Amino acid sequence: MDRGLGQREVTDGLRFRRPVEADHSALVNRIDEWWAGRRMHHLLARLWLLHFTGTSWVVEDPSGALVGFLIGFVSPDQPDQAYVHLAATSPNHRRAGLGRALYERFFEDVTAGGVRRVTAITWPGNRTSVAFHRAMGFEPDEGPDTQRLYGTPAYPDYDGDGEDRVVFSRDL
Ligand SMILES: CC(C)(COP(=O)(O)OP(=O)(O)OC[C@H]1O[C@@H](n2cnc3c(N)ncnc32)[C@H](O)[C@@H]1OP(=O)(O)O)[C@@H](O)C(=O)NCCC(=O)NCCS
Repeated sequence: MDRGLGQREVTDGLRFRRPVEADHSALVNRIDEWWAGRRMHHLLARLWLLHFTGTSWVVEDPSGALVGFLIGFVSPDQPDQAYVHLAATSPNHRRAGLGRALYERFFEDVTAGGVRRVTAITWPGNRTSVAFHRAMGFEPDEGPDTQRLYGTPAYPDYDGDGEDRVVFSRDL
């Protein structure tokens, strides 16, 4: 996939690499802040940095500080589908194309293995995530069990009581 000159300029000076187990403490200590205080760290168990690194990415600034990451995988049950478990960029690096660059690298990873569709879920009140996924070409599932929550079709209680989710997907 050609990222184009503009995308390369956006990520100049930043280094994309695969995560390693040693990244866990840095990521788990930042993740709640990067989600604006929402408690997310329980979703970043160490296992993600042990068993899913071949389709995941971290980004470092020139000082070596982590400024973004994406944890994703190819579905073991449906090998033509992939799933983004978590993705975030540092609040100091937003709206600069970094989230897009992470997703594009993930798309390249999984396309090579024959994946044709990518899914990601998000909380409907996370308007930034909803806007970002729409900008990345994802569309929300509008099945009969969805309701418009915060203006977006979402499944109430999708992940348990009160845990509403938008199910976003797009073809590759
Ligand atoms: C969602 C998130 C990863 C986006 O990262 P980012 O590096 O700012 O994204 P990009 O700069 O690549 O944005 C790509 C496009 O998404 C859209 N977008 C991103 N942030 C947006 C915002 N706050 N409002 C509206 N649109 C937005 C825009 O169309 C943007 O393109 P543009 O800047 O040329 O207009 C980042 O805001 C984040 O980490 N949020 C907290 C964690 C989270 O919610 N993660 C997603 C759920 S797993």
